[in-house]
Amino acid sequence: MRAAQLTEHGGPDAVRVAEVPEPAAHPSLVVVDLHAAGVSFPDLLQTTGAYQVVRPLPCTLGAEGAGVVRSAPRGSGFTAGQRVAVLAMDGAWQQTVAVPPQLVFPLPDSVSPTAGAGMLVNYLTAHFALDERARYRAGETVLVHGAAGGLGVAALQVAAGLDLETIAVVSTEEKAAVAKANRATHTVLADGFKDRVLELTGGRGVDIVLDPVGGDRFTDSLRSLAPGGRAVVLGFTGGSIPTAKVNRLLLRNVSVVGAGWGEYLRTDPGYPARQWAALDPLLRDGTLVVPEPTLYPLDEASEALRSLETRSATGKVALDLRP
Ligand SMILES: NC(=O)c1ccc[n+]([C@@H]2O[C@H](COP(=O)([O-])OP(=O)(O)OC[C@H]3O[C@@H](n4cnc5c(N)ncnc54)[C@H](OP(=O)(O)O)[C@@H]3O)[C@@H](O)[C@H]2O)c1
Repeated sequence: MRAAQLTEHGGPDAVRVAEVPEPAAHPSLVVVDLHAAGVSFPDLLQTTGAYQVVRPLPCTLGAEGAGVVRSAPRGSGFTAGQRVAVLAMDGAWQQTVAVPPQLVFPLPDSVSPTAGAGMLVNYLTAHFALDERARYRAGETVLVHGAAGGLGVAALQVAAGLDLETIAVVSTEEKAAVAKANRATHTVLADGFKDRVLELTGGRGVDIVLDPVGGDRFTDSLRSLAPGGRAVVLGFTGGSIPTAKVNRLLLRNVSVVGAGWGEYLRTDPGYPARQWAALDPLLRDGTLVVPEPTLYPLDEASEALRSLETRSATGKVALDLRP
């Protein structure tokens, strides 16, 4: 089978498509032929060895995909031919994966295989951030940084599915249009976002900030919180890790919480299945929508990564793995 592999920490150009053996069948694993696989910022960080988990080389990149079950253990609940999304943390940019049943999720008819390929990591992270970490309540308002990126779009969609208002923070008008198309209630430009957010909320601020960007905007994120607000740290695409003066937390009765979904799974491997049980009915009845990604052929995996590096990507990016 074909796979996109990283052979050295040389950035996106170090990704090469190679013929590799199919994963060995195992009686406890579900074998899935993938239609497409998601591309995420952590894949980009892995190409330079800058991600928090540095994998031994060569390695197949990617952590998620969608396709059709080839074979499944008896009693697993899956059958050959079934459409599924999978988490394949050891590499998903390959045509076939073998994964434990608890990391396989039946795709409802409302989600296409290409949309499903890039949904799991971001939708489950957004749900984790809002539900488990920020403990959202009905009627709250959520500010989303990097709102036209992969995780940002998922956060807007999940928040809308949970009936929460959102303020999308983006760098350009083009990205504002992407955020609007993904159900943002309001959009504001990153430059000077705090004043606009306070204007939109009548001076009160937002209840929750979801921040996958970090960098120097973090202090203004804290200043944008309403009393009792929670800022959720999700990542650092802006390049620098911010520090917070904790007197700001005391003065405004606000909190900063971290949300590391992958890390959470290490101690609670059954968590994604419980999240899926909460989100699946919303996907089936159309309350939760998963938009189509920008699809690149597997041979253009380097370009797909570069679109994240240059900040030109909007929404989710995925790789087409079909033969
Ligand atoms: N905590 C978790 O469990 C978890 C799970 C998944 C992903 N993440 C993290 O979430 C972050 C976003 O991932 P993603 O896959 O959504 O990435 P993405 O699709 O590339 O989106 C990232 C967004 O960040 C913004 N950005 C600001 N400064 C940037 C810069 N210098 N370079 C690139 N982008 C910049 C961009 O929006 P503007 O141009 O509008 O500013 C861009 O749309 C990453 O840090 C990733 O590691 C965390």
